[in-house]
Amino acid sequence: MSVDLEPIAGALAWRSVDFPEDRSWVRPFEREMLLELENAARALLASGAPLKDITAEDFDLPTTDRLLTESYSDVEKGCGFSLLSGLPVDDWGVEISRTVQCIIGTRFGLITKQNREGDFLLDVINKDVSHGTQNRGYHSNAFLDFHNDGANTVALLCMETAAEGGESLLVSAPTVYNEILKLRPDLLKPLMNGFFHHRRNQRAPEDAPIMPYRTPVFCWIGGVFHCCYSRISIDSSKDEGLVFSAAEEEALDFLDAQLQRSDLQVRMQLRKGDLQLVNNFTALHSRTEFLDSSWVSHAICLRLWLDDPRSQFNGPNKMDFYLPEESRFMKTIGYEALVSAS
Ligand SMILES: [Fe+2]
Repeated sequence: MSVDLEPIAGALAWRSVDFPEDRSWVRPFEREMLLELENAARALLASGAPLKDITAEDFDLPTTDRLLTESYSDVEKGCGFSLLSGLPVDDWGVEISRTVQCIIGTRFGLITKQNREGDFLLDVINKDVSHGTQNRGYHSNAFLDFHNDGANTVALLCMETAAEGGESLLVSAPTVYNEILKLRPDLLKPLMNGFFHHRRNQRAPEDAPIMPYRTPVFCWIGGVFHCCYSRISIDSSKDEGLVFSAAEEEALDFLDAQLQRSDLQVRMQLRKGDLQLVNNFTALHSRTEFLDSSWVSHAICLRLWLDDPRSQFNGPNKMDFYLPEESRFMKTIGYEALVSAS
């Protein structure tokens, strides 16, 4: 792992001003695309094929693929996220909507497990559980610190808006890297040296609660920048007796302070039928606390994790902590290679 002391340039290093609140940068589905997607979903449901097993080759989407190719380019080669809008989720209902989400997801990667319980398709729903070592954030309505998820891309389909709160926040990891390089370059070393993450309740009984490797917050693999961060699973390792140096604590606090800067955050209140796709290696996401609408008993969002073997990105990610046997990074590169290159 080499330390690149040059700022990262290009579309992936953005600021909030690049994505104005008028949503002029959002990519809407057109009517013909919705018809094409609905027909594909109905045919798939009629076939009885499991959603988790579908791949891009299973569907011809000549009308929609123009839009999805642009969106994929944003996620993989551009700013690292894309917001598609206008899926008629109320008309479609959960079954068709979820099926359409999976079909679109095939253009971004393979549908992967998201937890040790083996869920491929997850509902983001408030079950009034706390967010900590025993629970993941998707069943909590609490504020979620900036972090990235597992696999290449996380796809969130908004099915319902919260009565209050629930804003989705994104920050460019390369921009945060650039800011730390400019303001406190001395703090990059502990961030690139990495931290041991707590595996929370997502581990086999015989496995240690903490990862056996330090996961770098920032690293380069094959010359490509990668970020992996979750303060809650880093701090939770202290519960197992780990002690951090003063420089490590200062680096984490400084990183968090950058993530809280309004000039770096893109804030979006997802609307019904919005599909947000985020590159887990170049963008960090957060969600503000939300209050359920009193009439809502179903999911606020449907979530997919997508693993993309075509991607230029294949680095440490949350999949390593919870499902190492499913992690493409662990299976192909692994932490030993990172350590030997540092
Ligand atoms: Fe997340």
